[in-house]
Amino acid sequence: MIYLDNAATTKPSKNAVDAMMSVGEMFGNPSSLHGLGLAAEKAIKEAKAQIASKLNCSPNCIYFTSGGTEANNTIIFGVANARKKWGTHLVTSKIEHPSVLEAFKRLEREGFSVTYLDADNDGRVSISDIKNAVTDKTTLISIMYVNNETGVIQPVDMIKDEISDIAKNAFIHSDCVQAFGKINVNVKKMKLDFATISAHKIHAFKGVGAMYISDTRYVSPLIYGGEQQSGLRPGTENVGGILAFGAAAKDIKTDTQKFKALREHFKNRLINEVPDIVINGSDEFNSNTVLNVSFLGIKAEILLHALEAKGVYVSTGSACSSHKPQPSHVLVAMGKNDKEVGGAVRFSFSYATSILELDEAVEIIKSETAMIRRFM
Ligand SMILES: Cc1ncc(COP(=O)(O)O)c(C=O)c1O
Repeated sequence: MIYLDNAATTKPSKNAVDAMMSVGEMFGNPSSLHGLGLAAEKAIKEAKAQIASKLNCSPNCIYFTSGGTEANNTIIFGVANARKKWGTHLVTSKIEHPSVLEAFKRLEREGFSVTYLDADNDGRVSISDIKNAVTDKTTLISIMYVNNETGVIQPVDMIKDEISDIAKNAFIHSDCVQAFGKINVNVKKMKLDFATISAHKIHAFKGVGAMYISDTRYVSPLIYGGEQQSGLRPGTENVGGILAFGAAAKDIKTDTQKFKALREHFKNRLINEVPDIVINGSDEFNSNTVLNVSFLGIKAEILLHALEAKGVYVSTGSACSSHKPQPSHVLVAMGKNDKEVGGAVRFSFSYATSILELDEAVEIIKSETAMIRRFM
């Protein structure tokens, strides 16, 4: 098997699995006052510290959720509603993940006004467009750090300085789900107020995510219940999932040179050896963990299954929309034509991906695309 679908999800690491298994013994409720509960609470604190150290923030700013989707929703609804009296204008981009876009669409239906910014042909949102969009009534700007379909890095770290004169009441949120563990995410240096991360993208488990919240006064909870996590995200914590998240975070080594070498090698071989392809997204601003390629004249889904039959696992668009074949909203926002959108396949790498595997994948892609084209 050659697994090139790491942007959809990653294989849990041994350390993450071991951390998850430890709750077989340490099964107490972290809110219980006895020793078993205290041990679970202490272990959660350690996981929090491991994650916080990779984000360069205080562990007190980390709140666990059921995943990136819930984290994005909590921050977007939470900030928009908590800051309503300061303004009802919000800014995001057309290339965000559905867990961001759909939350903003809901807020629009509730009376908020939302600006959705375009991306350029390279898949990048422009900082001047962000600056031009904000007003003194803008309360939230939400721009992802790395796009899940193209790997393109957005100019998130420039937003605060560019807008602070105009939009004094605006907070900056970044969906860092595809950035965390792949490129350096330093919330202080990037001047973020809020950030989202997800465990299953960094070799831990599905169903666990976290929010970085710089100051809880500016966000209201999405769900209500007990006093866990200061009432901001109540509910008994997913201890095993959180411990695995902490262990996976501790293991993060953002080896940008390795990823760059993998992506360049794979890209150059495809360009030189497979006819009629287009590479989508900037090379200059890329996490290098994703290569999005349009195989012109080939339906991406057909190629996906042909590759799968040979043991190569890839995606057509983002995973959550891949069961309802729709044109990728990201590639459409980048101005790609129908042929480019219809034939787009996403290859995504992890620290475990090797040049050898990519070379094998190239040979399979060469023969499968040639065969599909012969029969068309
Ligand atoms: C950019 C981005 N944001 C948010 C999510 C949602 O995260 P989760 O699967 O943990 O809900 C994903 C998952 O694909 C993603 O790629």
